[in-house]
Amino acid sequence: MPSSVRFLTVRMFSLLLLLFFHLRACHSSPSMHPLCHDEESHALMQFKQSLVINESASSDPSSYPKVALWKVDGESRDCCSWDGVECDRDSGHVIGLDLSSSCLHGSIDSNSTLFHLVHLRRLNLADNNFNNSEIASEIRNLPRLFDLNLSMSHFTGQIPVEILELSKLVSIDLGWNSLKLQKPGLQHLVEALTNLEVLHLIGVDISAKLAVLQLDQNKLAGQIPSWIGNHTLLISLGLGSNILHGPIPESIFRLPNLEELDLQENLFRGTVNVGLLRSRSLVSFQLNGNNLSVIGNSNDSVALPKFQILGLGGCNLSGEFPSFLHGQNHLEFVELGGNKIEGQIPKWFMNLGTQTLWHLDLFGNFLTGFEQSIDILPWNNLRYLRLSGNKLEGALPIPPRSTIIYQVSDNRLTGEIPQAICNLTSLVILQLSNNNLNSKLPQCLGNISNSASVLDLRNNSFSGDIPDAFSSDCTLRAIDFRQNQLEGKIPRSLANCTELEILNIEENKINDVFPSWLGIFPKLRVLILRSNRLHGVIGKPRATFEFQRLQIVDLSDNCFWGKLPLEYFRNWTAMKTIYKERPLYMQVVPSFQLTGYGMTYPFDYSMTMTNKGLCGKPLSRKCGNGEDSLPAAKRGSAAYAIEFGWKVVVIGYASGLVMGVILGCVIDTRKYEWLVKNYFAGWQR
Ligand SMILES: *[C@@H]1O[C@H](CO)[C@@H](O)[C@H](O)[C@H]1NC(C)=O
Ligand SMILES: *[C@@H]1O[C@H](CO)[C@@H](O)[C@H](O)[C@H]1NC(C)=O
Ligand SMILES: *[C@@H]1O[C@H](CO)[C@@H](O)[C@H](O)[C@H]1NC(C)=O
Ligand SMILES: *[C@@H]1O[C@H](CO)[C@@H](O)[C@H](O)[C@H]1NC(C)=O
Ligand SMILES: *[C@@H]1O[C@H](CO)[C@@H](O)[C@H](O)[C@H]1NC(C)=O
Ligand SMILES: *[C@@H]1O[C@H](CO)[C@@H](O)[C@H](O)[C@H]1NC(C)=O
Ligand SMILES: *[C@@H]1O[C@H](CO)[C@@H](O)[C@H](O)[C@H]1NC(C)=O
Ligand SMILES: *[C@@H]1O[C@H](CO)[C@@H](O)[C@H](O)[C@H]1NC(C)=O
Ligand SMILES: *[C@@H]1O[C@H](CO)[C@@H](O)[C@H](O)[C@H]1NC(C)=O
Ligand SMILES: *[C@@H]1O[C@H](CO)[C@@H](O)[C@H](O)[C@H]1NC(C)=O
Ligand SMILES: *[C@@H]1O[C@H](CO)[C@@H](O)[C@H](O)[C@H]1NC(C)=O
Ligand SMILES: *[C@@H]1O[C@H](CO)[C@@H](O)[C@H](O)[C@H]1NC(C)=O
Repeated sequence: MPSSVRFLTVRMFSLLLLLFFHLRACHSSPSMHPLCHDEESHALMQFKQSLVINESASSDPSSYPKVALWKVDGESRDCCSWDGVECDRDSGHVIGLDLSSSCLHGSIDSNSTLFHLVHLRRLNLADNNFNNSEIASEIRNLPRLFDLNLSMSHFTGQIPVEILELSKLVSIDLGWNSLKLQKPGLQHLVEALTNLEVLHLIGVDISAKLAVLQLDQNKLAGQIPSWIGNHTLLISLGLGSNILHGPIPESIFRLPNLEELDLQENLFRGTVNVGLLRSRSLVSFQLNGNNLSVIGNSNDSVALPKFQILGLGGCNLSGEFPSFLHGQNHLEFVELGGNKIEGQIPKWFMNLGTQTLWHLDLFGNFLTGFEQSIDILPWNNLRYLRLSGNKLEGALPIPPRSTIIYQVSDNRLTGEIPQAICNLTSLVILQLSNNNLNSKLPQCLGNISNSASVLDLRNNSFSGDIPDAFSSDCTLRAIDFRQNQLEGKIPRSLANCTELEILNIEENKINDVFPSWLGIFPKLRVLILRSNRLHGVIGKPRATFEFQRLQIVDLSDNCFWGKLPLEYFRNWTAMKTIYKERPLYMQVVPSFQLTGYGMTYPFDYSMTMTNKGLCGKPLSRKCGNGEDSLPAAKRGSAAYAIEFGWKVVVIGYASGLVMGVILGCVIDTRKYEWLVKNYFAGWQR
């Protein structure tokens, strides 16, 4: 990636940039007490006297000379009652001065008594004629300013560097003056004034040495003016994650020295024809996340710059794989997700960037597979591969062993997991969910458990035992094997995975007793064992710390019998509730921040639980001897145990939002009431 910190000396040019931020509402009301401070009323009076009143100084039709009735004697001598003056209710200090459109004419010098009003928070002098005054560096005497409006008031010269000291500024309007923002530059201003939400610089000359303009994530709004194309020495333009709208001016694409263009995550619309790209040195081109249609064809590929970073996610690319990418053999980072690309990933694309490509995101298209069938995908340094949400058919594609994140969920893949997957010893996330993969899981799957955090095989047709091969340095944090046909026992080597936070084996054929040994996992938050062939008595916890982090546990639709030890319940339900509507949804979205190779990948593993409400007619399962093994619940049984049927769901959410549900076919009514009363307040029946 080219360095973005490069500055060049450039000839002058004027850039009229219109930058809106979200405007914060100010509420103010004038106060009557206490009276104005003498020194402030004098300062105001002297300020008035340093100027003349001239109707042609203001252009707003409703302008009038607000200062005309200011007087230091008589009834209205309290400056807090003067037009345009706002005082603090408690201290009586002047905190607001709004003399916009007040027909003021004359200069504001550095010795102006305006700068004696050190308590000012709001200053609006817009639409007057300050006779080409410069903004004096004494502006620094007003450190409490959070709203400064000097627009349309004939200021001139360089905006003083002292403005950077006004760290409370939230809103600045310097528009429509012949001001220059060069030293400090726009970049400095935005970086130094971290509270800034509103910045209007219409007509302000921000020429200077503008080779790099990075204003990412600044809540910038408005349109990019087409004159930006006059910045011919611009090397890097970063306007990502703002709320800019309108079309992208084509002049940007002709900037001859541009190397980086980041316009992602804005509200741009319209069509971008890559054939118009003339910036031959462009290496990073990111348009992701707008409302753009990017078009181009193979004829364009000849004249295109060689991209290293290409972000065209959600750019309405449709039809066959974008042929304008022909010849792009420097690719490193490619995002083409969320488009409408159809058919196969062509052979020519598989030959591009075989040594350089490390991030490839093709999620959410209509891709059916790879044109060239190949054991291992050809990009030797790939680290991130997302193919989820396509129409991929056939065998599971295997990325190279450098891969750390591989997501291929929601496709139509079939067959087994090839042994070759176990060579991916750097894998952190493996998501194969929602495909038609089948057969037994490879024994060597345990080999990746000492690097992987997430193993998501949900909703396939895997069968046989879960390999008992979780290694002693297991790093897994989430295991989701739900909705398969796995059988046998929960492998005891899973006890090696002490980082485990989520274990979901719902809807399989696991035949085991209650895995109380999972209770020692210090981080286990979600344990879903629903709809299996688990059986036996759930004993009392052996240690007080068992399952102490659990937020969701679902044991329903198994063959457990006996009592559910209240000791577990105490902790599982030590929470407040509250769900008033049915069906009940419960969502868990643990996020993993994965940092690798200089990039942070946030990974949201989301899981929604649905209860069909009260908890409908419960399913009954035939267990063991073929009997429906629901025992009759006994009233008044042991004080610390809850007699339950075979279906128990306790759902909690530690961060305050919690609910608990008992799905019991048979449950001691009195205990149930007690449980509801004590733990499930707000529950409505
Ligand atoms: C008011 O200002 C205008 C333009 O700046 C000027 O021509 C005119 O003479 C001024 N009038 C007075 C009364 O100063
Ligand atoms: C404005 O500036 C000009 C030239 O500097 C000066 O002649 C004129 O008197 C000034 N006008 C006012 C109202 O101060
Ligand atoms: C402020 O300074 C100017 C010269 O820059 C001078 O003409 C004026 O008299 C001064 N005003 C006061 C109030 O000292
Ligand atoms: C500055 O004041 C002018 C005149 O009152 C007004 O039109 C403009 O919207 C103000 N700017 C901001 C950012 O509030
Ligand atoms: C900037 O570009 C516009 C056209 O986009 C042109 O009209 C204008 O003259 C240019 N300004 C300078 C200073 O080059
Ligand atoms: C995207 O643009 C199309 C027209 O080009 C418009 O109909 C649609 O509302 C826009 N979507 C958003 C989210 O702005
Ligand atoms: C996406 O492209 C299709 C043509 O392929 C076009 O009809 C549609 O309007 C485009 N959508 C947007 C939002 O630009
Ligand atoms: C590519 O260029 C050739 C020759 O100019 C032209 O015949 C052909 O139609 C072009 N193809 C596309 C897809 O525009
Ligand atoms: C794993 O990688 C090694 C070395 O690259 C290779 O020899 C071996 O065949 C691979 N194993 C599988 C099952 O593909
Ligand atoms: C998996 O781990 C076992 C034991 O550590 C080792 O013998 C085997 O070669 C590994 N398999 C692969 C494909 O790395
Ligand atoms: C943990 O892993 C080691 C080595 O892979 C294995 O021998 C051991 O049985 C595992 N621990 C448990 C509790 O299964
Ligand atoms: C419940 O959890 C707390 C910590 O969250 C722990 O101190 C306590 O021992 C636990 N009680 C039982 C019965 O597990």
